[in-house]
Amino acid sequence: MAVRRIGILTGGGDAPGLNAVIRSAVRAGQRRGGVETLGILDGFEGLLERRFRALDRASTRGLVRRGGTVLGTSNRSNPFRFRAADGSLRDRSREAIDNARAAGLDGLIVIGGDGTLHIALELGGMGLPVVGVPKTIDNDLAATDFTFGFWTAIGTATDALDRLRDTAESHHRVMILEVMGRDAGWIALYAGIAGAADVILIPEIPYRVESVEATIEGRAAGGQAFSLVVVAEGAVPVGGAPSYRQRDAGDGHPRHGGAGARLADELAPRIEHEIRATVLGHLQRGGSPVPFDRILATRLGASAAELAIAEQWGRMVCLRGDAIESVPLADAVARQKLVEPASELVAAARATGITFGD
Ligand code: F6P
Repeated sequence: MAVRRIGILTGGGDAPGLNAVIRSAVRAGQRRGGVETLGILDGFEGLLERRFRALDRASTRGLVRRGGTVLGTSNRSNPFRFRAADGSLRDRSREAIDNARAAGLDGLIVIGGDGTLHIALELGGMGLPVVGVPKTIDNDLAATDFTFGFWTAIGTATDALDRLRDTAESHHRVMILEVMGRDAGWIALYAGIAGAADVILIPEIPYRVESVEATIEGRAAGGQAFSLVVVAEGAVPVGGAPSYRQRDAGDGHPRHGGAGARLADELAPRIEHEIRATVLGHLQRGGSPVPFDRILATRLGASAAELAIAEQWGRMVCLRGDAIESVPLADAVARQKLVEPASELVAAARATGITFGD
């Protein structure tokens, strides 16, 4: 039986490019398969509460350049562990599937990161036809070379480093920039290289404050009285733990925060320089996607619609080299992509004089 109607939802944190995926999936579905797309609002919550919005060419106009997600999102609406008003956790997965059927959906495109794609995989196992689209500004999903939103975040973080350099140079200060990246240091690494940071601290390479101090002092001795340090929120001192604001933020993850301030406190008694720490935070998640992210998102959306039309359920679209391909969802969520300390990328950064605190 041909696919006539599919649902689409966005789950987890927003990322620049989500709207471009929605736009192209809706349009590709319509043009290539005569498929109608129903937008599901606020992630899986909308599926449970039956909050839907019909999408078509007109309602997706102008979306390629818009940040956020017009469908809304949530990272607290896991149907398998849904928090009821009384605080108890309920399994509402069967309801989610029944609601999708009642809405006449032949399948569902789920755009999300690790957590959201896990839910999609489990719902798929219960009989809901699903296609996944990878999303995270952190770029830490192993099954795809890049995720959309990442290059926009890199642009924002690089711009922040350029701006901080002005103050660092003028005031002869150590300026620390804390960027996102709970488990993976991709944003810190790429922005640190592009923004010519002096020190990059990432979760994959535990740091020693003595080593950071040595870089700063070495630069001062060589006539460079300022330093620029970029630190991932998940960076860890050797033998220590990441800096958390909350051990459990309610979405199955801890909330990080304070890595930059902690480093400033550790450095303060050791160096003469004035130190300032800036947290870039959610500025990295917002804004209009850069062209690379718009194009990647468009390709992934169109390809997801094609998989749905071809009834290739249980797969996730991905970027491999120059090509858009697909992998089984189960493989897609199996492994995180972390920075390899011995990689050419890290070696290139080191070759330019950047240190990693090791
Ligand atoms: O996974 C994406 C991400 O932006 C992380 O880098 C960050 O730690 C987290 O989400 C922040 O989540 P929230 O928006 O819930 O504070």
